[in-house]
Amino acid sequence: MCGIVGYIGEKNAQQIIVEGLRKLEYRGYDSAGVAVWTGTELLLDKAEGRLAVLEERLRQKPLSGSLGIGHTRWATHGKPSDENAHPHTDQSGAFAVVHNGIIENYLAIKEELLAKGYTFKSETDTEVIAHLLADMYDGDLVSTVKRAVQRMRGAYALGIMSAHEPDKLVAVRLASPLIVGVGSGENFIGSDIPAILEHTRDVYILNEGEMAVLTRSGVELLSVESGERIERELFHVEWDLVQAEKGGYDSFMLKEIFEQPQAVRDTIGPRIDEANKRVVLPELKMSDEELASFDRIYIVACGTSMHAGLVGKELIEKLTRVPVEVAIASEFRYRDPIVTPRTLMIVISQSGETADTLAALREAKQKGVKVLAITNVVGSSVSREADEVLFTWAGPEVAVASTKAYTSQVVVLYLFGLYLAQAKGTQTTEQIAEVVEQLQQLPAKITAVLQDTDGVRRFAESIKDVTSLFFIGRGLDYAVSLEGSLKLKEISYIHSEAYAAGELKHGTLALIEEDVPVIALVTQPDLYDKMISNIVEVKARGARVLGFAQEGDTELAKTVDQVVHIPATLPFLSPVLTVIPLQLLAYYASVARGNDVDKPRNLAKSVTVE
Ligand code: M6R
Repeated sequence: MCGIVGYIGEKNAQQIIVEGLRKLEYRGYDSAGVAVWTGTELLLDKAEGRLAVLEERLRQKPLSGSLGIGHTRWATHGKPSDENAHPHTDQSGAFAVVHNGIIENYLAIKEELLAKGYTFKSETDTEVIAHLLADMYDGDLVSTVKRAVQRMRGAYALGIMSAHEPDKLVAVRLASPLIVGVGSGENFIGSDIPAILEHTRDVYILNEGEMAVLTRSGVELLSVESGERIERELFHVEWDLVQAEKGGYDSFMLKEIFEQPQAVRDTIGPRIDEANKRVVLPELKMSDEELASFDRIYIVACGTSMHAGLVGKELIEKLTRVPVEVAIASEFRYRDPIVTPRTLMIVISQSGETADTLAALREAKQKGVKVLAITNVVGSSVSREADEVLFTWAGPEVAVASTKAYTSQVVVLYLFGLYLAQAKGTQTTEQIAEVVEQLQQLPAKITAVLQDTDGVRRFAESIKDVTSLFFIGRGLDYAVSLEGSLKLKEISYIHSEAYAAGELKHGTLALIEEDVPVIALVTQPDLYDKMISNIVEVKARGARVLGFAQEGDTELAKTVDQVVHIPATLPFLSPVLTVIPLQLLAYYASVARGNDVDKPRNLAKSVTVE
């Protein structure tokens, strides 16, 4: 995820900024840059690669001054490169901008600026901001930023400085985190607390739609919309550096679970045509005709990404009636699959570097199959080798156990399924609009799930000493059960199995005895009665059952021992919500057993060997 650091004071800005960026390295990045006001001009340097590359350049040609902004970039619009690295400046070099997040309407603004004669050096949405500020500048940086920001849609955090007013640093927050550090005769901005912790523990945490104007002697907080001053108490940070990197959470996994509303919002955000409630995927190069011509889809991936594919299979088939087969990459690559020119292969990989997934991709390409990748890492091998790419905008995932990548992958599959349905005409405009509206409500519903975790925590603590348990579900609930079971195994080391509930009686029911925990997912109305029958079967053998149902369900409680409700949504969108308490269940069970949640034994984050 991108990192922002800014400084205004009397000290060496370049040094403070580079040190701050180093503290943000754990978030992942692919390029870095710094801009400094030297007293006479605004100079910058930026470079693809590790911070050390930039540092070496700065050692040879330092930027000397006491006002500056810096950035580590995790590529979104445009590949990792020197040109696409931040800061970005306008044509005259008077405005420098660093930016986290996405400007959804940047193309429209860019076209307008191109028509006025502005020329662009990068592929980024951020450069648009620098030119827009130059275009709108009226002699007052603060009012210009306010007006420019009102034109930009999206989720972003900005750090801005200008050669016209080199006594100010301006910060803006809309949905992407940003903080202001308050020192004595110096002030700071940072996208995360570790960036500035060495210099001050007193911070303002900006809320959505707020901006901060920093001078050497003070900080003013303003509402972007009304321009009114905001009074806020300083927050005194008690965390040490390691706690601060985890945003105050006990582990990266927990932090990443709680980042899911943002990850899902960022992934959906730029891909909806608001006026018509349709999906737009401008990043796809293939035409609607080509898309509509596919008559068979393979989804190929490993682990959690493969489980996202299982949800994808159900929903793509439902939306488009195109048959979808999900394959484990390590199997697919040796299997001589049946393909035709009308076959599409979708590979899913958070890291984009998983050896088996990459090999399956290459195998398919050799057979002339069109490959679409869904990945979280711009510039990864999978993203470079696939014919088409849809990125999940989840930000870097540090914990070995994948959480926010899964929900973002599932969301991309919904978007793709809807897009394919639009191309094939298999859903009406109204049906598409209804799903799109419900999709857009998911981030708020995930937040609601995350606010009520007591029931899951209690159950997790109650299973800490069991040796085995079962997850059961049907249809989409079965797909999510597989992911819940993997998560639990992976970090708690409790043996668990996920079963299609109707399959239990064909053998596994023999393992159900007094007090065996069973987790039953019951969110699909069409399969509700069948699930109740399966729950009764395990209850009759003494199982202790935790049930998951949609809000408003009052029946399930009569059959199971404990119920967790998830917010109501279209049944076929429920996996994005149901998986969250399952992730938390695994997390709390792991903590209760005293395990290292972020680094489970025997596992690596990215499996780059066969
Ligand atoms: O980076 P990828 O999505 O290709 O990784 C695939 C699996 O190794 C990964 O999802 C793994 O199963 C997770 N650690 C599970 O939490």
